[in-house]
Amino acid sequence: MEVERVQAIASLSILKDTLPPEFIRSEYEQPGITTFTGPVPDIPVIDLSKREALMQEIRNASEEWGIFQVVNHGIPEKVIKELQSVGKEFFELPLKEKEKYAVKPGSFEGYGTKLQKEPEGKKAWVDYLFHNVWPPSRVNHDIWPQNPPSYREANEEYAKHLIRVVDDLLEILSEGLGLEKQVLKESVGGDGLEYLLKINYYPKCPRPDLALGVVAHTDMSAITILVPNEVPGLQVFKDDHWFDAKYVPNALVVHIGDQIEILSNGKYKSVLHRTTVNKDKVRMSWPVFCSPPEETVVGPLKQLVNDDNPPKFKTKKYKDYQYCKLNKLPQ
Ligand code: SIN
Ligand code: FE2
Repeated sequence: MEVERVQAIASLSILKDTLPPEFIRSEYEQPGITTFTGPVPDIPVIDLSKREALMQEIRNASEEWGIFQVVNHGIPEKVIKELQSVGKEFFELPLKEKEKYAVKPGSFEGYGTKLQKEPEGKKAWVDYLFHNVWPPSRVNHDIWPQNPPSYREANEEYAKHLIRVVDDLLEILSEGLGLEKQVLKESVGGDGLEYLLKINYYPKCPRPDLALGVVAHTDMSAITILVPNEVPGLQVFKDDHWFDAKYVPNALVVHIGDQIEILSNGKYKSVLHRTTVNKDKVRMSWPVFCSPPEETVVGPLKQLVNDDNPPKFKTKKYKDYQYCKLNKLPQ
């Protein structure tokens, strides 16, 4: 079956100011109706170069929000610009060229568009590219774009820097739970932790008030680190409202994922989030999902549970968690 890319639909001039009905969300999801318009509290922005009070800030943000932005993270601006520039170049190639990398049955890596409609029959206004970037044993370079030619180098360079940031964050998060700093990383697979890059490409949308890019979800990863472009669109659910996340230049957006929520026995929150789209500008984002290898058993850490604080989550292999989440089965 031929897949309709959202990018191709968006370029149809007959759309004018209308949206094909399968993209019109039900009222309870429409950003035009459900976005909070009062004074918006900012997602915490944390300066990673500042050692003082760092652990406390990260702990508070992870408990209250499940999301924060980090600045002065040590990844050179040039490395991030390159990552963005090669990703953008790939998505600007002719459709036929991109289709060479289309997701094949049985795999999730590659170029794609969400195939199955959601329960209410609605579609998301986004195309994507998925591929692993680390560890080397999980990387299949056949799936990485050959074009632009510097795609591979730019992505390898970013991954190299990112690993250091993730290691630092996991140590701080571990200490924030009152544990030895290596505990959290060891619990998500140690050096086997898998880094999966997704590039989201949200074309210009004739009715951004009616559509969503990515629907509301929590990430099933341990932690997700995201580079956005300058077009805002990320929204976070807190205190019963959908809030717009502010674009902070050179910041990385850190999402606490389900696995860290589980390990912390609910002390850290896996953040519910979604994305909106834009009428005049293409939005892009580069999340990297850091997840345990599939055989890793994840459950509330025994150091954090006792009679007064019983386990709030089941203990299971990551692959079983993933299966239930992807098939919308109870955990
Ligand atoms: C996502 O959660 O998958 C995307 C978030 C974003 O584009 O900012
Ligand atoms: Fe997400």
